[in-house]
Formats: sequence, structure tokens, C-alpha cells
Amino acid sequence: MGDIRDLLENNRRWAAAMQAADPRYFETLAAQQAPEYLWIGCSDSRVPANVIAGLAPGEVFVHRNVANLVVHSDLNCLAVVEYAVEALRVRHIIVCGHYGCGGVRAALEAQPCGLAGNWLGHVRDIALARQAELAAIADDTARVNRLCEMNVEAQVAAVGRTSTVQAAWARGARLSVHGWIYGLDNGVIEDLDVSVSSAESLQELERRSKVNRSSS
Ligand code: CO
Repeated sequence: MGDIRDLLENNRRWAAAMQAADPRYFETLAAQQAPEYLWIGCSDSRVPANVIAGLAPGEVFVHRNVANLVVHSDLNCLAVVEYAVEALRVRHIIVCGHYGCGGVRAALEAQPCGLAGNWLGHVRDIALARQAELAAIADDTARVNRLCEMNVEAQVAAVGRTSTVQAAWARGARLSVHGWIYGLDNGVIEDLDVSVSSAESLQELERRSKVNRSSS
């Protein structure tokens, strides 16, 4: 078992190594923050944004919660999106889910899981809306993984519908929202090809999702 003090020792070693490689590293980094990306991901400890996307400190603004949800009454997430778009002027917002997400599985199986159960009701709604398509998948793991993908798609649309993103597009800002999914078992991120970069492309995505729903 690790000792909590190890973390502080690790930190001292890391800071010293960074400083040795570039004596002005922290000075430069402290002076400004100008990331091009906002990452909205799951809190799962196995899906750290900077590490899996190969980004250094300062390169990605991050918001994580259980099952990477963008809920329109969640001030925490909305404030992050607003700050990223209005102040940092990020060009890309990435919603990155992951296969085998425990939150998504719990929502699908409607397991009682305390407060998280209320939060995961948002994923449950997606599962209910696309029940027929999910029910047709015989394998449990495959069904959870398909819902992980559906959830990412729904959250991309949710980001696009925020007042912040709508206003950015209305003023002609270059801003794209992407849906990615990470494989815990191979370390690879797949692009789910649900990117939107305008009000029109958002409508197109929403139309496609509805078609999926009714045809399934
Ligand atoms: Co997860």
C-alpha cells in the first residue's frame, strides 16, 4: 500500500526534474494559461486526460464527473464550459467517455448506488429512450459499451445546447464539440464521429439520434 507522504515526495522529485530540464518552466507556465482544449471526462482514475491524450500541464482544461455528464442544471459543469469558451477561448470541447464505465453500467442495471443513482438517472433516461436498440444486444458487456457510446453522443449534444456554446456559434466563434471514447483494455481513444461545430450540425446530430431511436 502506498503512503500518502509518497505523493509529496513524488511531487518534489517531479518539480525538480522539470526545473532541471527547463529552468524557466514553472515561471512560464505560471504566467499564463492558454489551453486549446476543454476535456469533459469520467472521474474514473484510469482515464486521466493529460496522460492519455499526451498533453502537458497548461494544454487542456479539464472537467470530470461520474459518467462524463453535461447536465443543464449543473452549475459546476456549466461554469467550466463558460470559462473555457469565454475566457480561455478554447477551440475544441472533447467529451470523452470510456468503455466499461461503472456509472453507465449501474444506470443500465438500475442498481441502487446512493446519491450517484440520482446523478446516473440522466444515463438511465438515455437507456430508456433507446431501449429497443440496447435490448437487441445479447452480450452484457457489449450492451454497456453501446450505452457508453450513446451517452457520449447525448453529452456532445448537451454541450452544443448550452447557452455558452450557442452564443459562441451565434457570434461566429470557431468552436467544435467532439465525442470520443477510450478503451480501458487497449488504451486507445476512438472518435465516435459525432462532432458538431455549428447550430446546424447540432441539429443534424439530434436528427440522426432520433432516427436511431425510432428505427431501433
Ligand atoms: Co466511468
